Amino acid sequence: MKILYPFLSIFVLIIVVFIGVHQADLHFLFGIIIPYVSILVFLIGMVLRVGYWASSPVPFRIPTTAGQGKTLPWIKQDKLESPSTLPQVLGRMALEILLFRSLFRNTKAELSESKLAYGSNKWLWLGGLAFHWTMLIIIVRHYRLFLEPVPGMIHLIESLDGFFEITLPTFYVTDALILICVSFLLLRRLLVPQIRYISLAADYFPLFLIFSIVISGILMRYVLKTDVVKIKMLIGGLLSFQFQVPEGIGTMFYVHLFLVCVLGIYFPFSKLVHMGGVFLSPTRNLANNNREKRHINPWNPKVKIRSYPEYESEFREKMIDAEIPLEEEKNE
Ligand code: HEM
Repeated sequence: MKILYPFLSIFVLIIVVFIGVHQADLHFLFGIIIPYVSILVFLIGMVLRVGYWASSPVPFRIPTTAGQGKTLPWIKQDKLESPSTLPQVLGRMALEILLFRSLFRNTKAELSESKLAYGSNKWLWLGGLAFHWTMLIIIVRHYRLFLEPVPGMIHLIESLDGFFEITLPTFYVTDALILICVSFLLLRRLLVPQIRYISLAADYFPLFLIFSIVISGILMRYVLKTDVVKIKMLIGGLLSFQFQVPEGIGTMFYVHLFLVCVLGIYFPFSKLVHMGGVFLSPTRNLANNNREKRHINPWNPKVKIRSYPEYESEFREKMIDAEIPLEEEKNE
């Protein structure tokens, strides 16, 4: 069920667009209203999520370290594994975000000759990294649909991506790569028994959704050859708040757009929000400077303090009766 339900829901979403656009002529709904709703939900959802995380107090330093922290001058510090200053933290974060450094340490536990053995497993790191980078390149390439004139930078990325210059329109390497990567991430969940056991509908749904977005995009580009000029008019209208839906845009575009909108609406409430979370993770973004600096919990209760002279003046008589020596007399 945890596989079937997400699969069926994507299927239903696609049918809804086909009926809505093809049969019921709801171009305005699918071309204008739903994209705006999606953008609003995405932006508000992300701001609320990230704002909630950012406002959570982090009184103590809790970075996960995997190396020698800063200590005595003659003991060598591991600056990336246990950063103690802001530039070192930034270096560690950059490697984490751009190269998924901690996933690189991924291991696999196996029973060999009835002994538990841990071995290196880099496939998830490679598949995950390639997936995220190809997705980023594809999204950046999409800017040619949003901008007029198209910036030179986008043309450069397009020409590098279409390096092989095969097929018409030019085949993009990232299109093949993203298909391979999403298939790998999906097959890993479906075929590895341990991963299948811990996978939930919330793991399959985004994979099926992204897979369908990619397939519909590829169909549009290489098979159906959708009219990009009309699509640019629609997008231009959306960006300039002129609500026009040009005639003759194929239904596959509405499928693509609708699935992207569903992704946008789903994003802030799903595990995909790790895109923002990675920047705010205290186990990654804090410097391990516990030995240099005392971190005091800001919400410790305020204690009313009484100084010793105040104490002495309050109990003076009783102290004299009990023959307890007084500080004040000593000082005189
Ligand atoms: C998560 C976001 C998105 C992903 C992953 C995605 C993915 C893809 C992919 C893989 C293709 C195949 C061709 C290529 O790589 O350029 C494609 C094509 C296309 N996408 Fe997207 N897309 C996304 C968002 C959008 C949005 C927001 C729009 C429009 C509002 C859009 C409009 C198109 C169009 C018009 C094509 C055909 C381009 C052509 O014929 O050259 N896509 N998309």
